[in-house]
Amino acid sequence: MPNTETSKKWEELEKRCKNCTRCSLSETRTNVVFGTGSRDAEIMFIGEAPGEKEDLSGVPFVGAAGKMLDKYLYAVDIDRDKVYIANMLKCRPPKNRDPKEDEQDLCIEYLREQVRLINPRIIVCLGRISAKRLIKQDFMITKEHGEFYEKNGFTICAVYHPSALLHDPRKKEDMLIDMQKIKKKLDEVQR
Ligand code: URA
Repeated sequence: MPNTETSKKWEELEKRCKNCTRCSLSETRTNVVFGTGSRDAEIMFIGEAPGEKEDLSGVPFVGAAGKMLDKYLYAVDIDRDKVYIANMLKCRPPKNRDPKEDEQDLCIEYLREQVRLINPRIIVCLGRISAKRLIKQDFMITKEHGEFYEKNGFTICAVYHPSALLHDPRKKEDMLIDMQKIKKKLDEVQR
């Protein structure tokens, strides 16, 4: 159970994030998409940036990519309520363009604080944007998806972004294999 001090830190962080005007995305957003799920999670999924549905609802991964992610969580028996889901960027880039480096630089502090507060055992990057930033700059998603790395005390890996599976269904088989590996790792750390 989170103690009062931790709850206070969450409250402060969320407030700061929701009032953020550090970059120009604050001018075009409808909602800040802070993050969702269990703050005691042992596994955290980190996507790229909110899309239209997320911007409108303020919740990450609720659109088509989110439904795809849900399918894989269900397929490997990971309860969405027991994970924490966030993005590299908390605000939607216009027309869903890729997050810019300087936007990531300005926004990453919020994510780092979320990771510190949750202290998950496993971090899963959803797609190349978060993998390049959180695992290594030259990360190659097509070659290195599903591989586990140890970094700063966390076990971290990357899988294809769920929206990549919508565009290229041939990636679905790899995604299932990767998610099964992640579930196995999660069972190991929970023992
Ligand atoms: N894609 C992402 O990377 N994040 C979301 O929240 C939705 C779509």
